[in-house]
Amino acid sequence: MLLIGCGGTGEAPQPPPAGTGDPPPDLGAVAAADPGNTLAPDWHRGAFMQVFVRSYQDGDGDGIGDLRGLTSRLDYLRDLGVRGLWLLPIGPSQDRDHGYAVTHYRAVEPQYGTLADLDELLREAHARGIGVVVDYVINHSAAQHPLFVDARAAPTSPWRDWYLWQPLKPVGWTIYGSDPWRANPSGGWYFAAFWDQMPDFDLRQPEVVAWHHDNLRFWLNRGIDGFRLDAVGHLIENGPTAWTDQPETLPLLRDARAVVGGYQRRFLVCEGPNAPTTYAVACGSAFAFGHHARMLEAARGSVAAVQQVAGYFETAPATMATMLANHDSFAGQRVWDQLGGDLAQYRLAAATNLLLSGTPFIYYGEEIGMAGAASLSGDPKLRTPMSWAGDARRGGFTSGTPYRALSANVTTANVAAQQADPDSLLNFYRAMLALRNGLEPLRSGSYEAARADGTVLSFQRRLAGERVVVAINYGRTAADAMLAGLPPDATLQSRHPAGGADLRADAGGSAVVTLAPQSLRVFVHR
Ligand code: NOJ
Repeated sequence: MLLIGCGGTGEAPQPPPAGTGDPPPDLGAVAAADPGNTLAPDWHRGAFMQVFVRSYQDGDGDGIGDLRGLTSRLDYLRDLGVRGLWLLPIGPSQDRDHGYAVTHYRAVEPQYGTLADLDELLREAHARGIGVVVDYVINHSAAQHPLFVDARAAPTSPWRDWYLWQPLKPVGWTIYGSDPWRANPSGGWYFAAFWDQMPDFDLRQPEVVAWHHDNLRFWLNRGIDGFRLDAVGHLIENGPTAWTDQPETLPLLRDARAVVGGYQRRFLVCEGPNAPTTYAVACGSAFAFGHHARMLEAARGSVAAVQQVAGYFETAPATMATMLANHDSFAGQRVWDQLGGDLAQYRLAAATNLLLSGTPFIYYGEEIGMAGAASLSGDPKLRTPMSWAGDARRGGFTSGTPYRALSANVTTANVAAQQADPDSLLNFYRAMLALRNGLEPLRSGSYEAARADGTVLSFQRRLAGERVVVAINYGRTAADAMLAGLPPDATLQSRHPAGGADLRADAGGSAVVTLAPQSLRVFVHR
């Protein structure tokens, strides 16, 4: 019997023998049974924290983060002002790290805990008004998933056509520098876009799609609040020059969205870096790749980027999921490293992300300026244990030995140090999130009167009778923000920074506010 690599606690699901056609443990129909939802209707317009469970908090001393550890940090997340969590894959995986090579679609990675630990996390998160969204890998499984183990063993396997096969090697294909057609030792060639150990599903097969829907319902029935759908641009291939963002992808996403939408107050966000706005329409939300880099360029003072940031939400859906960085190095290094530790720029980038339209995501540790690990490169560099305290050996992450090197700046940029400092980056994030949580227009209001004047960005968010005015000066010298379209003679109450003077519009609905170098002002008018 082949054992999949889930080991450790003895709870690893055991696959059936290869080639027998015995059903894997994560097969079987799942009917919808919505447990309901106690979250606020607009919980997913608040900010999300993207959490890599393996690196967040170790709860049992084995040096690896786990669900119980995460649950123990929910007060921190609530106090920060987070309203949602996106957990990188939490299922058993062949890669034993980031989790995208899934070996069981209806179980928890044993190193992270059990389904009961997940239930507890959900209970505690919901009690704090925080929703929990998990990564769902629809495009591929692990090669060690029992379905593929069986499929590759014999062409007669009932699951052979759940994956993509050719008897002879197709020619002319290159994806991310590799040939995606992989030799199967017992015959045939299978398609695996990302890695030979992550074979792509054939999503033209209705039974494969139906199975994914069953898996989605499995998690939704447990109280999961939605999904981040991985790599949606790869779902369908039409040839060696047509392997990404194919039109047949969109109905698949709409159907997945319909499954999620059959439950109360759930949220779906898709990852499709080449066509973010298209996927936002199909899925309801999608990550705003491209915009993320421009917010950082604006923070560095690029006039062209300020212009692009100002214009983004004039056409992009208001439901875009925005971010400054994430767990993938193709999307950039840790913000701290990209900005060379310049805290003034860092604050402006954060304010832009958290106050603009869209649903902002924060990559764990971003709120304290966590750097990458000095000794690592590639993706692992970005996925270091969370810096809870300044202890250079453990960083407050574990009582044991951390499974991975800590961030380069753990002794200076950590939660314990920044909690105590009113001027810290952490407290700045808190202040921005308090604005977002306290002012409904910042979550769900219109985006209007956007202007870019050199290094100054200004925009207004309006909902019913309430208007929030934001003005940001990314430049290194003082500059005026020219505000227009305000109610005549309106008094704008200052909301940020503390102690800022109110502002009065003239009879034509215009006002001018002088901004200090690298600073922002936020006003409210009711
Ligand atoms: C995108 C994910 O963000 C990345 O981390 C992963 O490796 C690929 N999809 C493949 O699943």
